[in-house]
Amino acid sequence: NAPGEKSPLSLAFDSIMGRTGDGADRIFVPEGYSAQVLIPWGTPLNNSVGQWNADLAVTPEFQANSVGMHHDGMYHFPLSEESASREFLMALNNEYIDQSALWAPQDGPTNPSSGNRPANEVRTEINAHGVTIVKLSKNSENVWSSDTASPYNFRYTSATPIELSGPVRGSDYVITAYSPNGTLSRGTNNNCGSGYTPWGTYLTCEENWPNVFTKASGRTIDDDRLGIPDGRSRYAWETAAGAVDEVNSEFARFNATPSAASASGDYRNEPRTFGYIVEIDPYGNTSSVGTEAAALKRSYLGRFRHEGAWPGKLVAGQPVVFYSGHDSRNEYIYKFVSDANWDPSDANRPGENYDRLAIGSKYMDEGTLYVARFDADGSGEWLPLTPTATARNGQPLWQALGLANAQDVAGVIINTCDAADLMGSTPMDRPEWGAVDPASGDVYMTLTNNSDRTAEGTAATYANGAGSVEALGAAFDTAPVNGPNPRPDNGAGQVIRWREPSVGATTFNWEIFVFGAAEGDADNISGLTELNQFASPDGLWYDDRGDGEGILWIETDNGYDPVGDYTNDQVLAVVPASVSIGPGDVAVIDPSDQAQLKRFAVGPNGCEVTGIFATPDKTALFINIQHPGNWPADPGQNVQDATINTNGTVRPRAATVVIQKLDGGKIAV
Ligand code: FEO
Ligand code: CA
Ligand code: CA
Ligand code: CA
Repeated sequence: NAPGEKSPLSLAFDSIMGRTGDGADRIFVPEGYSAQVLIPWGTPLNNSVGQWNADLAVTPEFQANSVGMHHDGMYHFPLSEESASREFLMALNNEYIDQSALWAPQDGPTNPSSGNRPANEVRTEINAHGVTIVKLSKNSENVWSSDTASPYNFRYTSATPIELSGPVRGSDYVITAYSPNGTLSRGTNNNCGSGYTPWGTYLTCEENWPNVFTKASGRTIDDDRLGIPDGRSRYAWETAAGAVDEVNSEFARFNATPSAASASGDYRNEPRTFGYIVEIDPYGNTSSVGTEAAALKRSYLGRFRHEGAWPGKLVAGQPVVFYSGHDSRNEYIYKFVSDANWDPSDANRPGENYDRLAIGSKYMDEGTLYVARFDADGSGEWLPLTPTATARNGQPLWQALGLANAQDVAGVIINTCDAADLMGSTPMDRPEWGAVDPASGDVYMTLTNNSDRTAEGTAATYANGAGSVEALGAAFDTAPVNGPNPRPDNGAGQVIRWREPSVGATTFNWEIFVFGAAEGDADNISGLTELNQFASPDGLWYDDRGDGEGILWIETDNGYDPVGDYTNDQVLAVVPASVSIGPGDVAVIDPSDQAQLKRFAVGPNGCEVTGIFATPDKTALFINIQHPGNWPADPGQNVQDATINTNGTVRPRAATVVIQKLDGGKIAV
C-alpha cells in the first residue's frame, strides 16, 4: 500500500469444509483456532445448588439457579472499559426446552399429550426458559469460565414479573386477574434473537410465545393472527394443578379462555402481555440494587413473533432507531423511530449502578412504529403504524382495524400485524436477525426460508380462506414472489440489505446481499460453491473493525435437504463490499463479494448455530450451539475437550462456544 493508504480488510483463514451428520460429533474451526465449551445448560449460577450431572433429576430450584436451556441470542456488557475484553456480564437467551433431555433420568416428561402435568415438572420447565445473566472472565491462559460468586448472576424465567411499558401499559387490552390495572406481565418466553441499546441494556424478544397458551373460546383477531392454540398448549402447562390462589395462579394463566364476567376475573388477556421486545438492565439485579427484575416490556416496538431488535446508526442529535422482524412466513419487517434525539451523555457507563431503564423509557416509549414496503424497483418506504395513518382502503388505520377511536395507539400495537397488512407492507420470507454497519448505517437482515412462497401470478391467500386486505386476524397462508423474495418455495433463504438517506428516514433503497443455495441448485443466484454454500441464514452480526470496515457474520438454522453433504449448521464470514444501493440494483450481486464469503465454523450434529459477538479486542468470538443431538462430551471430561464428543451417547446440552486464535490474535483477519 502507498503511504497513508489503508489496507482493505480481508479474511485471513481458509474456508473449512461443510460437514454432514456422520463422522466426529464436534465443532470444526479453521486451522490455528481453538474452541472451548462454556456454560452449558445447568451450569450453576450461585452456590445454592450443586453441579449438573448426567443423572441429575432437575428440580425447579436447581433450574432457577442455573443456566437455562437452549441458548440463543446473547450479548456482552463490560464492567469497565479497561477490562471489557477479559471479563463481562453476558446476557443469554434460553429460547425453549428439549423435554427429552430435561427429563432424561426420569424418562419424562409426565403426561405430555394427555392428562395433567405434575406441578413441579411444569415449574422446572418454566424456569428453564427465559434469560440468563452470568459473569464470564478469562484467565492468563485464555481459558474462559463463569463466576459462581458474581452478585450480577440472575435468571429471568417464564414466571418473573415484568412490567409493561409504552402504549399498552395500563390499557384495557392487558387487564388480567393478576394485573387488574394492566401494568404487569409474568415472565418472558421463547427469547430468540438478541440486540442491545447504546445505553448498556440488553434487548431480548418474545418469538414463539403463542404456543404456551391455549384459548378455546372468546378468541380475538390477534389471538387468531398470532396463532394461540385452541387445544392443548405446547407443553400443557395450563393443566398443572396446585395453584392455591387463582389470582396469582402459576398455571391457570396459560389458559386464556374467558371463565368469568370480566377480564379482571380471568386470563383472557394474558397472551396480550407477550409478544414484545423486552429491555433488561444486566447490571440492575445485584443485591445492592435489589432483586426485583430490572426489565420492561417495550410495547412500542410492536407485538408479534419478534425475532429480536437491533439499533440503527447512532448520531448525536438524531432519533434512535431500532429494526425488528416478525419470524413467520409472509410476515413483515419493522422499524421504531424515537421522538427523543440521541444525547451521547446517555451512553453506557460500564459497571455503574444507575437507572438505565429510565434512559430506555426516554428513547423507546415515545416515537413511531413503521412497517416496510419493498418495491420491485429497489426502492422502499416505511409506512407509519399510527391510528390516523391512511390505510389501503382509504380509511384511517384505527377505523380500518375496528378500534374505538383515533387515540387508541395501544389497539394498533396489540394488532400490529393486521395494522401492517392494512398499510400495504411487503410479506417477507421469514425475517430473522438484523445487523447494522454503524458507519454506513446499512441494515442487513436474514430472510431464512419460506415454504409458503408461491410463483408469480398466484393470488395471496389468507389462512381463513379470505383473499383480501379485509381478512383481519388471518396471516397470509401463501403469498406470491415479490422483489426481495423472488424464489418460490424458498428453501435456502437470503440476506437483504437496505440503506436509508438519513437516520429516521421514511424511504430506503434495498438489494439482496446474498442468496443461500447449494452449489448445484438451478437458482444458485449468488454462485456459491462447496466452500460457502449455505441454507436458512438466521443469526447475523456486523462486526465493526473500524475505518468503515467490518465483517458480516452469518449463522444458519438449516433443514435444507439439497445441501446434501453439508447439512450441519455453520458460521460464515464475509467482508461486505461497499457498493451503491439504489433502484435498479435489485438482486445485483458482485461475484467478488462472494469470494469473500467463507465458512468459519461448523457445529455438531443436529444443532443450530445461533447468537454471536466478539470481545472488543476481537480476540474471542462467542457463538451458541442450540439443540445439539448428542453433544457436548460428558462433564467428566475436561470442559476444554468437550468440543469433541468421543464419549458415546450423552444427555445433550446447549452451550456457548468460545473460539480464539492459538496465537492470541484477532479473529478472522
Ligand atoms: Fe427462534 Fe426465528 O428463530
Ligand atoms: Ca433458535
Ligand atoms: Ca432464529
Ligand atoms: Ca430459524
